[in-house]
Amino acid sequence: MAPPLTIAVAQQKGGVGKTTTTANLAHAGSRAGARILAIDLDPQGNLTRTLYDQDIPEGQPITADVLTEEGPAPLADVIVSTAWSGLDLAPTVDRDLAAVERDLTQNPRTPARVKLLHDAIQASEVAAGYDVVLIDCPPNIGALTLAALAAADRVLAVTEPTLFSADALVEIEESVARVRQHYQVPVTLSAVLVNKWRSNVIEDRHWRLSLAEQFGDLLLDPPVPQRVIISRAIQAGVSLSQMGADAKPIVELYDRHYRTLTS
Ligand SMILES: Nc1ncnc2c1ncn2[C@@H]1O[C@H](COP(=O)(O)OP(=O)(O)OP(=O)(O)O)[C@@H](O)[C@H]1O
Ligand SMILES: [Mg+2]
Repeated sequence: MAPPLTIAVAQQKGGVGKTTTTANLAHAGSRAGARILAIDLDPQGNLTRTLYDQDIPEGQPITADVLTEEGPAPLADVIVSTAWSGLDLAPTVDRDLAAVERDLTQNPRTPARVKLLHDAIQASEVAAGYDVVLIDCPPNIGALTLAALAAADRVLAVTEPTLFSADALVEIEESVARVRQHYQVPVTLSAVLVNKWRSNVIEDRHWRLSLAEQFGDLLLDPPVPQRVIISRAIQAGVSLSQMGADAKPIVELYDRHYRTLTS
């Protein structure tokens, strides 16, 4: 059986919508009947709060344990199932992953350590269980994001339609190229998604055009609009398809982007 397609959702600027995008693509995959593993690789643990409404029991291994040097936990032991069919989660509890990030940053990053997440996803019991793995990255290109890039086949960069976010995309593109070369992995920047798009704002239209020039076919079209219903669903820990008829166009938009990203 083919290993799962692994997609890292990245952007070093905070608050652009990485977690929102990861959660909604995970829901789209679940709606499509795919077996999805969402990995929360951000010490903030926002994806975990969105997809999992229970406490992680004391002693249950979490994502951080997969990345520790001394005897990493198997990813299979970390995974919990969520309320949605086919959607599982590798959860994060903030302080532990932050400690791993500090450790990874302070100690020499051996290729073996950077590739721990890659190896964990490729381990047979995980690889056989999923069609798609989605990794939610923290808002920096630090050690954890590098581990995600080394584990990924594809990177989805999420951006707001502003100059600052657009500039940050160049850095991601360079990081992806560096990781590909340095760790001999197949990762590529395969899509850019403009999020929080306001069609009536001239600046947003301007930056979308300039991103289209810069990234051509990589730019997912149409962008995801700024809509209160999107943040409400995330805060309530429900999927957009549970938000009634008003959310239907957005649900269809994420379904469409999921198909493009995974085809
Ligand atoms: N399209 C959207 N419309 C309205 N609100 C949105 C949209 N996308 C994201 N948000 C809101 O913006 C805030 C930041 O989103 P999110 O947490 O997904 O960003 P992030 O990039 O993961 O942040 P961080 O860098 O801190 O991890 C959240 O309150 C979220 O609900
Ligand atoms: Mg986030």
